[in-house]
Amino acid sequence: MSLTALTETQSEIQKLARDFARAEIVPHADKWDREAHFPVSVAHRMGELGFLGMLLPEQYDGLELDTISYLLALEEIAAADASTAVLMSVHNSLPTQMLLNFGSEDQRAMYLRPMARGEKIGAFALSEPDAGSDASAQRCQAVRDGNSWLLTGTKSWVTSGSFADVIMVMARTDTPDARRGSRGISTFIVTPDLPGFHVGKKEDKMGLRASPTVQLTFDGLRVPAENLLGDEGQGFIYAMRSLDNGRLGIAAQAIGIARAALDAALDYAAERKQFGQPIREFQAIQFKLANMASRITAARALLHATAAAKDRGESTTMHGSMCKLLASETAMYVTTEAVQIFGGYGYVKDYPVEKYFRDAKITEIYEGTSEIQRIVIARELYASRQNH
Ligand code: CAA
Repeated sequence: MSLTALTETQSEIQKLARDFARAEIVPHADKWDREAHFPVSVAHRMGELGFLGMLLPEQYDGLELDTISYLLALEEIAAADASTAVLMSVHNSLPTQMLLNFGSEDQRAMYLRPMARGEKIGAFALSEPDAGSDASAQRCQAVRDGNSWLLTGTKSWVTSGSFADVIMVMARTDTPDARRGSRGISTFIVTPDLPGFHVGKKEDKMGLRASPTVQLTFDGLRVPAENLLGDEGQGFIYAMRSLDNGRLGIAAQAIGIARAALDAALDYAAERKQFGQPIREFQAIQFKLANMASRITAARALLHATAAAKDRGESTTMHGSMCKLLASETAMYVTTEAVQIFGGYGYVKDYPVEKYFRDAKITEIYEGTSEIQRIVIARELYASRQNH
């Protein structure tokens, strides 16, 4: 149903991801969800296949693919299991890209190869219990102490945070008597071996249950000065620029979930008979299936067009937010309709759509809620009018 004319490489990557997902994720995804557990060995296996270094240059053992290839692979993984997909999305879009774009050559040399190979898993720690949408209101404080920084505070909603090896942590480097807003935030490369690192509460979530989402608490976490990423005071900008990429990944994840729900609904509507015929013969069901497919196709077309614009070097802040908004609301719409088509069977765990429905919701929330995406889009619209 994709409108994008795929290159040979893009088709190969899509097939590689689909085959891997069917063989090594689909058979286990329900169990991981039920047990709220993700085996890290699966992430390591994804690394071996190149899925954790898709956008990194070959010099760092990455596959150096275009963004559409990456998003096609991510959609395949998400159609199999959204929890696996969020690890892949965060790792490829946030920590590795932050190191690549803003890190020193020493930092890149130290972390990127093992991250591309999946030997080290990345995470991103921006939010705090009292600073979610208003990310620049964060309070985690870094204080310079000789050749180190001492970090104190709590970061929340950290995907893969319980087993991550390399975490990009945003913390304040301004002082309480001279606050500098978003310009008072810096990024630190944090590894769990540093003294004062502590994994806190693991969230008991509605969906994406296999993906560990944790709090990280730092009580004077001692971070070597060379672990400051880029320039002091630029951490918020680095995080925002990285989220421009991250939101494309979440859009692909949402499209994968929606596609899986549509496929399940198509099969079920063909098999399920009521009033003497398969329910897909009823116009009420046809209208639902048509609406679901149309929205998925539109979201994917926008996503691939935005990915191509990104690879041409254009800013994708506005279109990236549009992709995330449209795809996540599509995922919620499609999974809701899928549950409705399944009727009572959609409400129980014997069929997959109940999981798709639970997994879809978070795509409207993390990496910026739908409301934040609308704010970003509106701001960009106003700015483009001013420059007109
Ligand atoms: N690219 C580059 N720079 C950007 C930018 C972007 N996309 N967005 C903002 N900036 C810059 C601005 O230009 C501004 O720079 P100057 O200081 O030079 O003026 C600076 O950043 C501050 O920007 P704003 O004044 O716009 O900042 P704000 O406080 O009003 O916030 C916001 C803007 C869009 C609401 C932002 O706070 C935001 O995106 N919030 C949502 C946060 C979010 O997505 N969190 C998700 C966390 S990750 C996660 O979900 C967990 C996970 O692991 C998956």
